[in-house]
Amino acid sequence: MAVDLRSRLAHVELPNPILTASGCAGAGRELSQFFDVARIGAVVTKSVMLAPRSGRPTPRMAETPSGMLNSIGLQGPGIDAFLRRDLPWLLSRGARAVVSIAGSTVGEYAELAARLSDAAGVTAVEVNISCPNVEDRGQVFACDPGAAAAVIEAVRARIRYDIPVFAKLSPDVTDIVAIAGSCVAAGADGLSMINTLLGMAIDTTTLRPVLAGVTGGLSGPAIKPVAVRCIWQVHEALPDIPIIGMGGVRTGLDALELMLAGASTVSVGTAIFHDPSACPRILRELEEELASRGIERAADVVGLAHESHQAAIHRRPGSVL
Ligand SMILES: Cc1cc2nc3c(=O)[nH]c(=O)nc-3n(C[C@H](O)[C@H](O)[C@H](O)COP(=O)(O)O)c2cc1C
Repeated sequence: MAVDLRSRLAHVELPNPILTASGCAGAGRELSQFFDVARIGAVVTKSVMLAPRSGRPTPRMAETPSGMLNSIGLQGPGIDAFLRRDLPWLLSRGARAVVSIAGSTVGEYAELAARLSDAAGVTAVEVNISCPNVEDRGQVFACDPGAAAAVIEAVRARIRYDIPVFAKLSPDVTDIVAIAGSCVAAGADGLSMINTLLGMAIDTTTLRPVLAGVTGGLSGPAIKPVAVRCIWQVHEALPDIPIIGMGGVRTGLDALELMLAGASTVSVGTAIFHDPSACPRILRELEEELASRGIERAADVVGLAHESHQAAIHRRPGSVL
């Protein structure tokens, strides 16, 4: 059975729902030796900042049971080199580019948005707000509804109206629905979730932190239940807002789980490091899983678990509903 895999990033249609996750595939070039990057829904690029950056000191990766810690920081060439080199390359390959941006001040995000507005071939912008705000004692934008909204409002005001803006949320908050709501109120067309969780490991031989930066972001299978919970809660509260889901996706079944929670598309991150062909494989597996369940359109499973959950509540004997 052929499954209709077409998916949406707000008003933009993608051929299928499997994307790379920001920071895990550069700007797609390295992956192109393994598969045709135009085959997946989109390439989400590493967060780009205004100026080139060298990232944080090494060691900056550590394996943990079922996950990985990284403290790479936002290493990258800066927006000028990105626009000159990386974006045209993606376009020449026929790939769709979701450009991730990051800044240290609201003004930097606004400037990045303005530069992208003039560029050809930006499918959507993902705003990485898990960055310290240098104008507010290093408070992470994504952890404060007001600061998160200020960034999204500034980006929305400067970016071309037809480019969807996705706010990428951090799970390291008490109430992710409150942050999601303020981003949407500030003009976000969609939400990406989740970024890594802050973690740490100590080497019991050297008796010191493993990462030079001491703390790092935890990703991989260990965080999938957190991703499912965040996507579920936000979709429950804001059912019409498209979600790019990510966090620990390794298989087509994992992607299906995030979609059932409410993700319209799914990004694959850490899995790419040990299987560079993870995206096309997961896409194939997802299609097989949908076909084996007699589901004709991938879009039909988005948030579906909520409906069966409601139906189960209604059916439960003695339910007050
Ligand atoms: C090495 C590494 C670098 C990352 N860099 C970025 C980044 O530049 N911008 C961003 O928004 N997220 C970044 N992330 C977070 C991922 O995009 C993703 O949200 C997270 O890893 C959860 O997905 P996963 O478990 O599939 O990796 C990075 C993750 C890893 C592992």
